[in-house]
Amino acid sequence: MTPILLNNKVTEPSHILVLTEKFRNEFNLPEKVTDYFEAQFKKDEAAGTKGKKGTLSYNYIGKTILIVFVDKSSDKNKLHEQLRKHGAAMADAVNHQKGKEIYIYNQTRSPNLSLYVAEGIALANYQFIRHQSKSVAKQNSLQTVILANTKINAAEVHALNCVCEATYKARDLVNEPVNVLNAKALAGAFVQMGKEAGFRVEVLNKEKIKKLKMGGLLAVNAGSVDEPSFTVMEYKPRGAKNKKPYVLVGKGVVYDTGGLSLKPTPNSMDLMKCDMAGGAAVGAALYAIAKANLKVHVIGLVPATDNRPGFNAFAPGDIITMMDGSTVEMLNSDAEGRMILADALHYAKRFAPELTIDIATLTGAAAAAIGSSGIVGMGNASAKQKQALHKSSFHVHERIAEFPFWEDYDELLKSDIADQKNLGGPYAGAITAGRFLVKYTNYPYYHLDIAGPAFLTTKDSYRGKGGTGVGVRLFFDLISNL
Ligand code: BES
Ligand code: MN
Ligand code: ZN
Repeated sequence: MTPILLNNKVTEPSHILVLTEKFRNEFNLPEKVTDYFEAQFKKDEAAGTKGKKGTLSYNYIGKTILIVFVDKSSDKNKLHEQLRKHGAAMADAVNHQKGKEIYIYNQTRSPNLSLYVAEGIALANYQFIRHQSKSVAKQNSLQTVILANTKINAAEVHALNCVCEATYKARDLVNEPVNVLNAKALAGAFVQMGKEAGFRVEVLNKEKIKKLKMGGLLAVNAGSVDEPSFTVMEYKPRGAKNKKPYVLVGKGVVYDTGGLSLKPTPNSMDLMKCDMAGGAAVGAALYAIAKANLKVHVIGLVPATDNRPGFNAFAPGDIITMMDGSTVEMLNSDAEGRMILADALHYAKRFAPELTIDIATLTGAAAAAIGSSGIVGMGNASAKQKQALHKSSFHVHERIAEFPFWEDYDELLKSDIADQKNLGGPYAGAITAGRFLVKYTNYPYYHLDIAGPAFLTTKDSYRGKGGTGVGVRLFFDLISNL
């Protein structure tokens, strides 16, 4: 992770990003540079664009100086997102010049604005190159982000470092293919994270999963030679503010071939190493929460397996008895996520949660509806809980678009021969998936479908390319604000 440090002085000519409302030369820039700025300011003023144009950049003895004009009249969340993106652009420019550090110099009266820039820089500097033999040569030159001359609280910087590091970890897990990271290895990664950050991790193996009669998880695992895993993570700090825990449940399908209802390869199956992105987000969120020492009792559950069409693979038409004793007519083996999540949601009942949120790359329908710009959300959580989620989601720019959660849709899941089928109709596919899952809950519940934003095939600013780690920052912000 590219660490973000607090330091008061720019010690030598360096790459600098300046946040300002009115630029002042506080870092001994030579006259020719400030003259250039003055000339540009005048030009912009004459054109009536001063302060609106956004940025001014200059290259001085091989160092980038980027001046970002902060328009405080704009919407806060929008401004913060712009700052992350300016940070990301700065990171790219500095890497291009083989620079090692970026100073963020804040001349506004809002010291905390620097944190958004730093976040954008740190997240943009992520790389997944460990499988390249020339990885050392390909490594970004940028190594540190320095918050200069600000009045930022060290605890806030620490929290930001925790959440960025956790996002890196989630991205790593998503980017690893299934031949490197199967269900057992995913659970092992969570064990490691628990050791590092300080939370309890218990991994249930196939034998225990059988004992618990997790029929959904076992059905999906039936066509695989690799064993499933079910990871239970618990972070319960002394002095936790909540009596009842928050439970996070993440889909951990380490690879989704579709099973016997096999997916086509191009732009479909070839991306399906990302199908444990929800699970990665849950583990990484616990990592950040524990490392930042937030005083909230949180539990994470990740059912994991690959979905393959091997010898005993469950066949369309099979009737599966789930952990809660109810039955599912499994009409499409590619609707596997809901099968494993159902058992996890049932398992969550034992904790009497304040709120359970699941996060899953669950349906192409969610991605088709809103693309990669946001998360599809729905549920029966309280109005207050939904408001908190909505607020956090816009604050971290992992925005939730809430879909209806009407009981009408249950009609589409009716089976003639079992309690439910795992396949809805041709429409409202994201919603029927959520309606399928709610049957396994008895507590306030919210469902997040991240099929759109979990994995990007083209680079998008600080979200990068590949696994985005979506959900980590959302959960961290939500739990921070409780
Ligand atoms: N993992 C997929 C959903 C997905 C699609 C994730 C695209 C990321 C990007 C999920 O298991 C799936 O296959 N869903 C089916 C459900 C259908 C058979 C009801 C789908 O969306 O087609
Ligand atoms: Mn599937
Ligand atoms: Zn899937």
